[in-house]
Amino acid sequence: MSQIERIGVSLETELLCAFDALIAGRGYPSRSEAIRDLIRQEISDEELANPKAEAVAAVFLVYTHHSTKLMAMLTDLQHSHLLQTISSMHIHLDEHNCLEVIVLRGQVGEINKTAENLISLKGVKLGRINLLATDAT
Ligand code: NI
Repeated sequence: MSQIERIGVSLETELLCAFDALIAGRGYPSRSEAIRDLIRQEISDEELANPKAEAVAAVFLVYTHHSTKLMAMLTDLQHSHLLQTISSMHIHLDEHNCLEVIVLRGQVGEINKTAENLISLKGVKLGRINLLATDAT
């Protein structure tokens, strides 16, 4: 385990009150835990600007399951990016729509490229990439 350093931070009273209200609302047990998470989030977000940074991503796709061609292309794309594709999950949302969550791992630039290829497939109605840089942990 890493060595722990103690730091002192000076804040205006109003700012501290707002911060305390924010973290209480989110359920943080302490300021330290909240500050650690905020720092990790900022470092992770900064790293995502680097296309070579290591990251994981969840790609959310909503599409109609009536297109067998699309389902085949989704599977083909995952098979051709085997090293990036960690896992996928399929949920039948309703009579017509499916949700696919595909988890990718690799460099930010490569992940974005694969995710954009998935989202831009004909028949995909909604798509979103959710990236986390893993070096910040
Ligand atoms: Ni389905």
